[in-house]
Amino acid sequence: MQRYLIPAPMTALRVVLSLCAMTVASAPTAAQTTWQPLPEVAPSPAGNPTTPAKVELGKMLYFDTRLSSSGNVSCFSCHNVNDLHLAGTP
Ligand code: HEC
Repeated sequence: MQRYLIPAPMTALRVVLSLCAMTVASAPTAAQTTWQPLPEVAPSPAGNPTTPAKVELGKMLYFDTRLSSSGNVSCFSCHNVNDLHLAGTP
């Protein structure tokens, strides 16, 4: 005759709960698959590495209004990096 081990109710509950917890922990949420942490170093094309001088040039161009035909608009005019409450706008 075969014997089965029947866990006590609380043990069975613990097993079920831990299985649920493992499933939740292993399944990435939509936010985790959509949003990844920023890399430590910005990716750059092969043979064109990011340098401090290039980063500085990029900052200058970003805020430079001379790039616009009117001379009054920069990237910063629309993409204001200080206006965090404008999330959802460019
Ligand atoms: C007159 C306002 C305005 C200016 C000035 C402007 N942008 Fe934009 N930018 C927008 C808008 C609006 C969008 C969104 C367009 C869309 O989603 O169709 C956008 C989108 C972008 C995107 C794409 C963002 C994404 O999530 O895909 C980048 C990158 C970008 N702009 C960079 C720049 C840079 C660099 C400059 C300066 C050289 C600049 N923009 C100047 C209004 C502007």
